[in-house]
Formats: sequence, structure tokens, C-alpha cells
Amino acid sequence: MVLPAHAYSGRVFSGMQPSGNLTLGNYLGAMVNWVRMQDDYECIYCVVDMHAITMWQDPATLKASTREVAAAYIACGIDPTKSILFNQSQVAEHAQLGWIFNCVARLGWLDRMTQFKDKAGKEKERASVGLYDYPVLMAADILLYRATHVPVGDDQKQHLELARDIAAKFNNDFKAEIAAAGHSSGIFFPQPEPVITGPATRVMSLRDGTKKMSKSDASDMSRINLTDDADTIATKIRKAKTDPEALPSEVAGLSTRPEADNLVGIFAALSGKTKDAVLSEFGGATFSTFKPALADLCVAKLAPIGDAMRRLVADPAEMDRILANGAERARRLATPIYRETKDIVGFVGG
Ligand code: TRP
Repeated sequence: MVLPAHAYSGRVFSGMQPSGNLTLGNYLGAMVNWVRMQDDYECIYCVVDMHAITMWQDPATLKASTREVAAAYIACGIDPTKSILFNQSQVAEHAQLGWIFNCVARLGWLDRMTQFKDKAGKEKERASVGLYDYPVLMAADILLYRATHVPVGDDQKQHLELARDIAAKFNNDFKAEIAAAGHSSGIFFPQPEPVITGPATRVMSLRDGTKKMSKSDASDMSRINLTDDADTIATKIRKAKTDPEALPSEVAGLSTRPEADNLVGIFAALSGKTKDAVLSEFGGATFSTFKPALADLCVAKLAPIGDAMRRLVADPAEMDRILANGAERARRLATPIYRETKDIVGFVGG
């Protein structure tokens, strides 16, 4: 169903890296939120393949991962006929606006980005220029559509602040031209708001409740992959690390029990209940009672997603059609904004 633009209260843009092997952590931490936002906003969801190549990517794997991540989002409930779902490299204006923003952003701003420091590590001289410039392209992604809301994890907050700084400096640097173009508010690029997905949905490793669930953990038993089948999901929950105590009847009783806290949190998130509600049902129960209930819930929610993903990736031509269609719709929104940007900056021609 396509709602008219005025039915929404704002425009959402978010991006995800095309890395394979998405987990329950990605699902509860980001995807559920993106799916929910479709009801209230016009949503643009982008597989950021241009960001991916800031670190070396095997080309064939990059193609497969791009389709797989898009398939995962559809399987989780992103409706590609309602929201716009596409891969970044198909809309050339991302790179083009990125260049203009390279000339707006200051070196000093980028020098402060902690993710670059983490990713480049000790061998900063050997990192790609793209890795350093990553946040500028991210600002272009968002502002190319004049998006107002950006659902991101905590780790992306600093990048979003940079996007806000770039928007503000652009508006200020080209104040006269923006006013002359008829923007009486003086605002050409809006300040995008972060929509931070809360700590309640942070899913931890099934082997160590103090570590985040991660696709790169050496042990596959530490995570539930969205492609795991029903038996695998149930086994992983059954073998998840726990302590010998029964569950408390109040949340405060979980504070020193990270593994129990994590499993209760997963149950709560998947069932759409609060942890308190889960504990009022299971308080006093042992894990031999709680784990089978959690396994059933995980299988009921996740196995259909895995099935849908497998069906979608089995037809790469259909995935490519969906992405091309999304790119076409994205371009229709981006082109007029970029054209006006060029005129404001002083470029001749349409
Ligand atoms: N940097 C984001 C991440 O790694 C991905 C991303 C790229 C993004 N462009 C974006 C997120 C624009 C939000 C908006 O998660």
C-alpha cells in the first residue's frame, strides 16, 4: 500500500552495511524498529555498498551480501512497495553530494571521529581515504533526501552529529543563495534527528552475558543467525549459558545476572512485553521451564524469517529487480534536491 506523502509526519532514512550473517541482535536492535517506523513515516532504507568498500570487500561476496541483507529486511517486514529499499551505488547523487560535502566538512571535524580511530587501528597510514571520509558520505545519504529522522545505533550518534554540523554549515555558507532560491526559513538542509534504538534491545552473547551478540564471535553457539533453522535455534537456546538460580520475580533481581537478564530481555522483546511482565509470569521458575518457552517463542518468530530469506536469495534476479525499482524511486526524490544544491553552490547547468 502506498500512502500519500502528507500522511506521514517526517521522512526516515537509514542505512545498513551489506555484511552477511545477520543475527537476532540485528533483528531486535535495528530491524524491528525500522519495520515499525513504516507505519508513521515515509521510509528510505539503503544498503550502503559504497560505505562497505571503505574496507576491502571481495566483489562476488559483496554482491551476494547486498542481496542477502536486502532479503533479510524484506523477510523481517520491510515492504519494498511501500518503503524505498535500494543499494546506495545505484543512485549516483550520493557520491556527488558527498563531494560537495567534502568541501563543507573540515578536517578537524573528521579527526574527532572515534569510529575511524577504532577501525583504522594502529595502521592509520594504511587505511583507505574512504574510511576517513565515511561520515561525510553518510551525511550525503541522509541530506540527499532531506530526511528528518535517522534510526541508528549508539555507535553512529557521532556520525549523525557530523551530518547536523554539515547541514548547518552549508545553510550558513550559502545563506544568500538559499534565501534567493526562495527558502525564507534559511533552511535548505534540515537537522536530522537521531532515533536511538534503546539499550533495552541490546542482545548479548548466549555464551557470555556481558558481551554483545556478534556475527564475528568465534563461537556460532553465541548467537542466533536469522538463517538458522528451527532445530538450530532451539538447540542454541537450550545450551545458552545460565546460572543455577530460579528466575526472580522482579527486574532488580536480574542486575547481577547478565545471562538471565539477556534471556529475559530477548523473551520480552520478541513477545512485545516488558521484562516485568515476563518475570511476573516466570518469576520462581527454573531455566528448565523458561528455556523451552523461550525456544518456542524464538522459533515461532524467527524460523519464518529464515524461510522467507532463503526463498528471496534463491532468486537473485528478483532481488535485483526490487533494488532497481527502489533505486528508481530514490532517484526521483534525490534528483530535484541535488539539482537545487548544485545551483546554490554555483554550478552551471541542470
Ligand atoms: N554507518 C552506518 C552503520 O554502519 C550505516 C549508514 C550509512 C547509515 N549511511 C547511513 C545509517 C545513513 C544511517 C543513515 O550502521
